[in-house]
Amino acid sequence: MITVDPFDLVIFGGTGDLAARKLIPAMYHRHCAGQLPEQARIIALGRKDLGRDGYLDAIIDKSRALITEQYFDAAQWQDGDFARLADYLLDTRDRVRIFYLSTSPNLFAGICQRLAHSNLALPNSRVVLEKPLGRDLRSADEINACVESVFSEKQIYRIDHYLGKEAVQNMLALRFGNSIFEPLWSHGKIRDVQITLAEQIGVEGRGEFYDSTGTLRDMVQNHLMQLLCIIAMEPPISMDADNVRDEKLKVIRSLEPFTPETVITNAVRGQYQAGVVGGNPVPGYRQEPGIDADSRTETFVALKARINNWRWSGVPFYLRTGKRMPEYVSEVVINFFSLPHSIYPSSDGVDSANRLYIRLQPHEAIELHLMAKQAGDRNILKPVKLDLDLAGQNERHLDAYERLLMDVVRGNQTLFVRRDELNAAWQWVEPIMNTWAALDKAPEAYEAGTAGPAAAHDLITRDERSWIEDY
Ligand code: BG6
Repeated sequence: MITVDPFDLVIFGGTGDLAARKLIPAMYHRHCAGQLPEQARIIALGRKDLGRDGYLDAIIDKSRALITEQYFDAAQWQDGDFARLADYLLDTRDRVRIFYLSTSPNLFAGICQRLAHSNLALPNSRVVLEKPLGRDLRSADEINACVESVFSEKQIYRIDHYLGKEAVQNMLALRFGNSIFEPLWSHGKIRDVQITLAEQIGVEGRGEFYDSTGTLRDMVQNHLMQLLCIIAMEPPISMDADNVRDEKLKVIRSLEPFTPETVITNAVRGQYQAGVVGGNPVPGYRQEPGIDADSRTETFVALKARINNWRWSGVPFYLRTGKRMPEYVSEVVINFFSLPHSIYPSSDGVDSANRLYIRLQPHEAIELHLMAKQAGDRNILKPVKLDLDLAGQNERHLDAYERLLMDVVRGNQTLFVRRDELNAAWQWVEPIMNTWAALDKAPEAYEAGTAGPAAAHDLITRDERSWIEDY
């Protein structure tokens, strides 16, 4: 394993949920893999003064127990803290310095300004910004402008951890490392594309954050749209960061804009009610701690999207994501057209259309569903799976954060979101947010443990298609 150069990683929000669940474990795994040099340092900053040992105890407890997210109190960040940090980092001015802002986005600008005032933002510094970045285009733009008054775009890493998932890397490799898929990758061959990000968990103690955010901002504007870009983008000139991001941006710009009318017909929002998930009874969203008793925040979104360009003209993209679904399933399904004419006797009820699955959860895998002949003396077909996941079954897949943190250390921005991409994504979801906000209506209720509200089913069945369910 090649080690990276020594670096300092400073985590703002070091006592928070993301640090405990993802960032510290990611560094731990990279350490075990022998990738971190001995001189590398992780400096965790939080509003509690726990001391080194206290922090280590707390993080070990938290990483095991996954306790709730904590928020930062801007007022608690004093210039003195930054002066102490500056002292601490004094001897390592020449090394790569990463500031990971795992705090509420309304603190990003203030933290960056204080970093600048304390002379901590050097040319070799990098800043990582967690999602969702802002609440809408305007707030995102304001935050980005403040951050960019301190750091250049080349120093800013807007993270979307879905881009660090192994299956997403594999999807790129499949499309751009092989010649056989390209002729199949367009209208005429592909009937529709479905992306499902379904979670069993509810808001998990993040009630306050979630209630003011909702699924559209938490999952659609970032994770779902990034996956859609990876599937739909044209081959980039190279894997260089800007070439990849130029192509993703073109996809977002080609998305048909929603109007108030199409939001009504092509966008569905839902909110879970009490039900049973994985055999356990769970409360409804409005009964969760930190949630307003009359909340109209959505916990489920389904959309029908269209990409108005040469490749994708006429191909619907059906997107859905929600909490308290029956299973933890994240996947992309590429549905190819059925045979124009079958010469085989029909195998009752068997859907013969070819289908490519890119599975992100619960296991990362890529599968191609084909028809093959059943053994025997008759010509009867049966569906078979070609498993294209080339990573060994027992090999440990890197967690998305491991991969992405190492990319920040190495200075590779390919899997990070550029400002214009982020703006374009906000621009696309804004009419949905605005139309929903203007409607005097609660999201449609769905029972926890079911696949979302009835309208999500109608969204696709009225096009004579159905969600490909693995549950
Ligand atoms: C986060 C969202 O970005 O992604 C969470 O804020 C969500 O609400 C999580 O649970 C899902 O990530 P993963 O990797 O578990 O699918």
